[in-house]
Amino acid sequence: MDLHALTAHLTAEFQRHYGRPPRWIVAAPGRVNVIGEHTDYNDGFVLPMAIERYAIMAADATAAPGAINVYDAHFQETAKIDISGPVTQGQPKWSNYIRGVLAWFQKRGEKIPALDVAFMSTVPLGGGLSSSAALEVCTATLMEAATGRGIDPVEKALIAQTAEHEFAGVPCGIMDQFISALGREGHLLLLDCRTRKTELVPMNDLSVELLVINTNVKHELGSGEYAQRRAQCEEAAKILGVTSLRDATADQLEQAKSKMSAVVYARARHVIGEIERTLHAAEGIRQSNWPTVGQFMYASHYSLRDDYAVSCQELDVVVEIAEDIGMVGGVYGCRMTGGGFGGCCVALVKTGAVDSITREIAKHYQERTGIEASIFSSRPAAGAMIIKG
Ligand code: GLA
Repeated sequence: MDLHALTAHLTAEFQRHYGRPPRWIVAAPGRVNVIGEHTDYNDGFVLPMAIERYAIMAADATAAPGAINVYDAHFQETAKIDISGPVTQGQPKWSNYIRGVLAWFQKRGEKIPALDVAFMSTVPLGGGLSSSAALEVCTATLMEAATGRGIDPVEKALIAQTAEHEFAGVPCGIMDQFISALGREGHLLLLDCRTRKTELVPMNDLSVELLVINTNVKHELGSGEYAQRRAQCEEAAKILGVTSLRDATADQLEQAKSKMSAVVYARARHVIGEIERTLHAAEGIRQSNWPTVGQFMYASHYSLRDDYAVSCQELDVVVEIAEDIGMVGGVYGCRMTGGGFGGCCVALVKTGAVDSITREIAKHYQERTGIEASIFSSRPAAGAMIIKG
């Protein structure tokens, strides 16, 4: 469903559920990260793009004070969020992404309006495409619409990140929320996670597309692996005597190898290499040098698999199939994307070969894993927006 159809659908759902039309409609996209994985919390570079998959909310003020009622129009589940006192964590679990954002506004002393809300998301859940960031950024955008006070997109991203830290318990970096808030149609976003400086990198060569291949193995970043990787990076930085791995070079790491465990060394090697690969890949994209970009994507995957240990068998299988299809069959490169442990791969492919590549990957993936993959392509989409209101 495109955004237009999604808006019409949710408007009808709101009307059906609450018996009146919505006053505001807002949306925020998910993302796919082209390269720069597990670099954001190391002050490095990332290169994501917003995808044409959205968290979308329709809302209206309600006369009954003290609560925000949220109706999940897809799963037909409701959440009543008490706003008469400080917003706390609660049930259902997905409501915590919304609660976390509301809590931030409260702490700032802002009055939260009582609302009736209907929401849907076309970002696959647990697919590594930032369904949670989309929901958080969407909620902040709803606050913007409903209070009439504009929020700077960078601030919006930071509010959403705080919600993820405090209400979802994932010590994530800034990539997902930044791209969901700041994405621009037709562009990738090269983000320097240290300075928060952004550069829009045009991706308008119609001869290539990014294909998202969902292994349909759900990933769970709250399980502790993510926090553990982050801690290992901090340990490496400490041993190297730098503020973050952004400041370390491959040479420095080699010289300090004996001072750290093999695991910490491998984690640092991934991060230091990945930061460089991201800058090279961005340059490749600026020059439309797709074979080069593809090679950096493969290298990123091997490093995530071998040094960072965040891949899984199913993600590896997708990359192997992509490699077998190769450049002759239209695949330039492929890698896991997002936090890892399941979720999606992203492949850079020739537009004319999208159909045959989709068929090949689906067939071989099913044969080798017994699982059906979901595959779609997306042009770079716009970031969060107020559609109505
Ligand atoms: C998750 C986090 C991001 C980032 C990626 C890995 O998506 O939310 O901040 O660390 O993992 O690159």
